[in-house]
Amino acid sequence: MKIKILMVCLGNICRSPLAEGILQSKLDPSKFSVSSSGTSNYHIGNKPDLRSIEVAKKYGIDITSQKAAQFKSSDFNTYDHIYAMDNSNLQNIINIAPNNKDKNKVQLILNELYPNENLDIPDPYYGGDKGFEDVFQMLDKACDVITSKLNSTD
Ligand code: 4NP
Repeated sequence: MKIKILMVCLGNICRSPLAEGILQSKLDPSKFSVSSSGTSNYHIGNKPDLRSIEVAKKYGIDITSQKAAQFKSSDFNTYDHIYAMDNSNLQNIINIAPNNKDKNKVQLILNELYPNENLDIPDPYYGGDKGFEDVFQMLDKACDVITSKLNSTD
């Protein structure tokens, strides 16, 4: 059975599509599957934001086939690890967790890089391209840590 990882932000068009693409690029697809969703319904069915598509492409990652989906409580049955991009996403996910075992699947992604600091991946939606570059770099570093952990426990 593959280990399943879900990346979650608000709209599922900026941050979590990048997190999905970056982590997927680092893991063996025969052992792991990575997906993403958003806590809101704002962009269901949409492609990632063009600025996310462009920064991913710059680093050799194609996220153009992704389509935004909304996080739902049944996702707790599907996924082994759920990473929230910010504290607001984290609260919204935890609020619909059926039980403590499911709550324990959820972590802030930057806590992998900076344990216990509870830092957010800032929402780049209303900013410029630099915000997307910064988000990419933060996610790339966090995904390196996640990759090492996942590869040492399987
Ligand atoms: P994301 O960014 O959560 O990283 O996908 C956002 C995208 C859209 C909106 C907010 C954040 N919005 O309000 O439409």
